[in-house]
Amino acid sequence: MIIRKARMGDMKYVHKLLMGCAQKGQLLARPLSGLYANLRDFLVAETGDGSLAGCCALSICWDDLAEVRSLAVDETVRGQGLGRALVETCLAEARDLGIRRVFALTYEVGFFTHMGFHQVEKNDLPQKVWSDCINCPKFPDCDETAMVIEIGAAA
Ligand SMILES: CC(C)(COP(=O)(O)OP(=O)(O)OC[C@H]1O[C@@H](n2cnc3c(N)ncnc32)[C@H](O)[C@@H]1OP(=O)(O)O)[C@@H](O)C(=O)NCCC(=O)NCCS
Repeated sequence: MIIRKARMGDMKYVHKLLMGCAQKGQLLARPLSGLYANLRDFLVAETGDGSLAGCCALSICWDDLAEVRSLAVDETVRGQGLGRALVETCLAEARDLGIRRVFALTYEVGFFTHMGFHQVEKNDLPQKVWSDCINCPKFPDCDETAMVIEIGAAA
């Protein structure tokens, strides 16, 4: 299993995986056009036979803040460390870019706590974070939990 940067040919899989999770209320759906536009944010998990099993995106918000979003692992391979590998690769990328704080808006509080994130008030995040929220079907009644991790930036 490897974690690698996504390529255009991966994005239909990513869309299907995220839609499946969104239908179960686990995360918010993203249109395929939005995924294409943000292709460079995405990582995918690829198995030995070349099939895909998960995805995650690191989206930069401000000079010292990025978001881990669209994290999903195929149901058949959950609990095997893929979610951790995807998040840790995002955090390493953020560190390399000189970003000191990464946040997530999530229903998976237990998982992100296990990854070293802690809960914060949504209002503690800068307003710039909320630019996407206007397009969310739940706006303005967001029921996700805001979680942050401070990382030692490389520069
Ligand atoms: C959340 C999700 C990505 C986790 O992926 P996963 O591959 O099953 O997680 P991992 O196997 O890498 O788990 C990593 C660690 O977190 C722990 N963990 C996983 N889920 C947990 C939870 N709900 N509460 C507490 N700990 C949890 C695991 O026990 C594991 O611990 P360890 O490394 O000490 O052994 C996966 O369940 C998923 O795709 N869920 C649906 C989509 C979703 O909710 N995405 C989050 C949107 S922000």
